[in-house]
Amino acid sequence: MDSKKLIVSTLMKVLPDEITEEQIEKLIEKPKTSDLGDYAFPTFILAKSLHKAPNMIAEDLVGQIDSTGFEKVVNTGAYINFFLDKAEFANAVLHDVLSKNDKYGNQNEGMGGNVPIDMSSPNIAKPMSMGHLRSTVIGNSIAKIESKLGYQPIKINHLGDWGTQFGKLIVGYKMWGSEEEVEADPINNLLKYYVRFHKEAEEKPELDDQARAWFKKMEDGNEEALKLWSWFKELSLKEFNRIYDRLGVKFDHYTGESFYNDKMDAIVETLEEKNLLVESRGAEIVDLSEYDLSPALIKKTDGATLYITRDLAAAKYRKDTFDFVKSLYVVGSEQSEHFKKLKIVLKKMGYDWSDDIHHIEFGLITTGGKKLSTRKGRVILLENVLQDAVELAKKQINEKNPNLKNKDAVAESVGVGAVVFHDLKNERRDSFDFNLEEVVRFEGETGPYVQYTNARALSILRKAGNIDFSENDELLIDDPNAWDTIKLLQEFPEVIARAGRIYEPSVIAKYSLKLAKSFNQYYAHSKILAEDTGLKARLSVVKAVSIVLQESLNLLGVKAPEEM
Ligand code: ARG
Repeated sequence: MDSKKLIVSTLMKVLPDEITEEQIEKLIEKPKTSDLGDYAFPTFILAKSLHKAPNMIAEDLVGQIDSTGFEKVVNTGAYINFFLDKAEFANAVLHDVLSKNDKYGNQNEGMGGNVPIDMSSPNIAKPMSMGHLRSTVIGNSIAKIESKLGYQPIKINHLGDWGTQFGKLIVGYKMWGSEEEVEADPINNLLKYYVRFHKEAEEKPELDDQARAWFKKMEDGNEEALKLWSWFKELSLKEFNRIYDRLGVKFDHYTGESFYNDKMDAIVETLEEKNLLVESRGAEIVDLSEYDLSPALIKKTDGATLYITRDLAAAKYRKDTFDFVKSLYVVGSEQSEHFKKLKIVLKKMGYDWSDDIHHIEFGLITTGGKKLSTRKGRVILLENVLQDAVELAKKQINEKNPNLKNKDAVAESVGVGAVVFHDLKNERRDSFDFNLEEVVRFEGETGPYVQYTNARALSILRKAGNIDFSENDELLIDDPNAWDTIKLLQEFPEVIARAGRIYEPSVIAKYSLKLAKSFNQYYAHSKILAEDTGLKARLSVVKAVSIVLQESLNLLGVKAPEEM
């Protein structure tokens, strides 16, 4: 049921032939106030060809229009105002939602095309930062949106699991660490050795030589070096997975930087063949000065290859392996120059598919307006944030609904969901401040508010005995209090398409807040459970709202508890 299409086809019958469907569709507006109808069509562009004043044109056209499907069609000045037949419209929308259920809003734009999504990608032996959290939840939501639009997302965790830092870590571990200590608290202790290494190396430069030697051993396949490295990696992944489990995020591949060790020679060869490599102070670079960019460092003095070289290999590998229709990288804005360079170098190598690579950038999370930084001690550890959110959620549940079953599980869904929702409700490029109390509130623009509204809808349906709906039910609602909600329900597919087009989960988060608010208003003004002939139709609104709220939360990667 697409009301815009109805208006286009109605107008096509009365407008001059030279005006196309697309033109009409572009011109249709949604009036600010409901007294001007649900849609309006401005007639200004017809003035020239019809040699008439626009308000006259509007008046004439209204006389010719077939108003089937509308309550009325009138003109206000130069505009034609369309008022939908509310009851018919509601009936069509509600049946559409109820029959499709969680598949409502599914689209086939993607036609199964592969879309690798590079996301999360924390660094081994370092704590996962709020930036990695953003990448994880934004990437996860985009994957769900892409899948809803008919693409095949492939979630890739491009772990930072190779590089000279592992040489330093091995030196530090051997000097100050022990197996027991590392096993007891892997990431924190590994980080401790790493930090101490940097401090002591300032005085003892020979430590740097040792670190280089150990990294060289790793690159040469030395057994001891690789054993330590893979142990660090295994322990770090265990900790990361604990967080991914809580967030409900799964990956299709954990192919980190080390995965491309044997795939980089081919890249360097191609760069050489195409005469793109030049020497500069002992390093091999691709000059990008014509783009006002610093050079892409392909090979360092000591022959160790770098971040961008691995990304070149990864991009090529993903094209060869998945033949993607587009390839996404959910990484903070601070790396935007890196991805610019990556795309340009691929293009210079002759890979036109570099145009299908998109850097899905995002801003920083701040506290009290300040950037979080490891060095200045303003790190918020992710697990602590989640834990605090869950405790706060539990406190509120204890106040509101002390007899709730599975309190702990619900508090987990609400607390974690609140953090995720808050992240996704902001446009991804914006930086935003993180204040736990704000985030976990049950009222206002929060995840718990949407979850709570859905739980309320489900409880109404339970009270009514969870009745079944059938195709033949007449779901004719013309209660003005429900109108806003019905229109929002109808917009859901369009909302998903827009979110997908601009890779912006916030579009869905904001929509879910609007729908929740509008439903709560309907609920406040209408006696839904009154025993009259309109009961089933009203319950169908409740049911449809719960379907769409749940699917919105699902697309954001937020759980929807049945009771809370
Ligand atoms: N590990 C990197 C970091 O923490 C992010 C990797 C992003 N993905 C990529 N393909 N470069 O900064």
